[in-house]
Amino acid sequence: MQAIVLVGGEGTRLRPLTADVPKPAVTLVDRPFLAYAIEWLAAHGVTEVVLACGFLPDALREALAGEEERAGVAITYYAEPEPLGTAGAIRFAADSLGDRLEDRFLALNGDVLADLDLSALLRAHEERGARATIALHPVADSAAYGLVSCDEEGAVLEFREKTGEPVPGRINAGAYVLERDVLDLVPAGKAVSIEREVFPRLVGDGLHGLVLEGYWMDIGTPERYLQASWDILEGRVETRVEPTTAGMLVAADAVIAEEASVGPRAIVSPGCRIEAGAEVADSVLLDGCTVGRDALVSGSILAPGAEVEAGAALRNAVVGRDERVPG
Ligand code: GDD
Ligand code: MG
Repeated sequence: MQAIVLVGGEGTRLRPLTADVPKPAVTLVDRPFLAYAIEWLAAHGVTEVVLACGFLPDALREALAGEEERAGVAITYYAEPEPLGTAGAIRFAADSLGDRLEDRFLALNGDVLADLDLSALLRAHEERGARATIALHPVADSAAYGLVSCDEEGAVLEFREKTGEPVPGRINAGAYVLERDVLDLVPAGKAVSIEREVFPRLVGDGLHGLVLEGYWMDIGTPERYLQASWDILEGRVETRVEPTTAGMLVAADAVIAEEASVGPRAIVSPGCRIEAGAEVADSVLLDGCTVGRDALVSGSILAPGAEVEAGAALRNAVVGRDERVPG
């Protein structure tokens, strides 16, 4: 089974974390974000992950070095000449695969952390003879997502992208089973959105949805990135990560002064240093960060090499690579 994974977005809402690495390559807890998706796909029988890249494909390749062997899947990279939108990018990757593209394949948004049952999605698609089947996830506020309504058999009645209305509903979880012929609806070489242009056209013509139980999170904002980190470290989603204690991951080589306070939720990555009197809570320190004497870091994300100087106070912030926060 092949899975085409969309990883071409710029990740603007996570800047400056995504200033020099694409969102799927950003470290989540202790590994590139996309490693979780690859592991998830492999667990459901995917043998080839096809990455539809736009922005910075080399950084992604670098971040995923060794992942093929670890997950036991082949990874293929295709970079679009220009952003082609969600459907255009799937079409571009499909055309690049040529005859190697299977008649039925999975397509996924590359910024979703989930353990939904993709095997059940594939089974439902097959049983219903669908052309496209969308994984659905119930949320309390659907405003920023694709809102999907279905009849009792699961046929989609309406697909509305980003309604802006804060109402509960079943949303597009960003995981699809697609029949190859769906790509005939996507003109080659043009920017096309699967949510706005393709799914609405397939309503009543083979578009199905299936609500799947399980963990699901789009990590596209700092708040959700942090929430996903704690969900991993507190076991709400199953991953290969091994926490130091629930809610905490502290690298063996991190240097933490005895008089510093770290946690109850925190990630302290390799090469980090936390000096005496400093307080780090509900925060993620990526590789090689320093928190100076008596500094406070709370609800924040520090990109690799960031430094919070002595006495500084940082709350609910994202600090870019090698940036300094003055005291
Ligand atoms: N290759 C490529 N080219 N990838 C793209 C492009 C493009 O032009 N545009 C977006 N992507 C990728 C992004 O990197 C991301 O992985 C995925 O497509 C979805 O784009 P987002 O920008 O993250 O969309 P969203 O989160 O606002 O909404 C989408 O995801 C929701 C679930 O998380 C939609 O699919 C919604 O319907 C859905 O509910
Ligand atoms: Mg997203």
